[in-house]
Amino acid sequence: MKHELMKLPFKYDALEPFMSKETLIYHHDKHHQAYVNKLNKLIVDTEFEDLSLIKIIKESDDGIFNNAAQVYNHDFFWKSLSEKETKLSTTLEASITKAFGSFEAFKKEFITKAATHFGSGWVWLIVNREAKLKIVTTSNANTPITDGLTPLLTCDVWEHAYYIDYRNVRPEYLKNWWKLINWDFVSQNYDKTKESKLSINDCNDNSEMCNYVESLIEAERTTS
Ligand code: FE2
Repeated sequence: MKHELMKLPFKYDALEPFMSKETLIYHHDKHHQAYVNKLNKLIVDTEFEDLSLIKIIKESDDGIFNNAAQVYNHDFFWKSLSEKETKLSTTLEASITKAFGSFEAFKKEFITKAATHFGSGWVWLIVNREAKLKIVTTSNANTPITDGLTPLLTCDVWEHAYYIDYRNVRPEYLKNWWKLINWDFVSQNYDKTKESKLSINDCNDNSEMCNYVESLIEAERTTS
């Protein structure tokens, strides 16, 4: 199976002035594309050749894992952004307030973890196996789905995400990235976890139901 680069859900200049057209061209067309290309090259004639992206992430390691996870993480990152103003659902807002004390406390924790994460990586709002909202960071290509966590939102803190626009000033990038969050996407992700106890992370076996759920997720990923 040949993996494809996800199309951006907005135009290259849609996120300006907070994220420039030049950044999107480099980040999406060069970096994200490179992960897709390397993944396609590495899986030729391996047991991973015909597996879905999610299955590859869960079953591989080293170079194949790194490139597959980076494809998934970047897909999630682009979907977490919007050029339009969006609003989180009342359900998610209430859950965030319950989990973190207030929305401002949640924002402060997310931005602090993103600003202080050492080196390259990702910051995520996730739902854990106990259905609790948490903020976690992952280094390099690591992704929360391998730990049985369901992601709702992610921020890319690799330098390639902000160096063109903000040089080495990650806090300034984070301040402006926050204005671009697609709360509709985040809220929908949360609603899905509330509607169904079955998430992609519950699929750790090869059961018929697990394969069916993963095929739906893969279809959604490739068409968006
Ligand atoms: Fe990136």
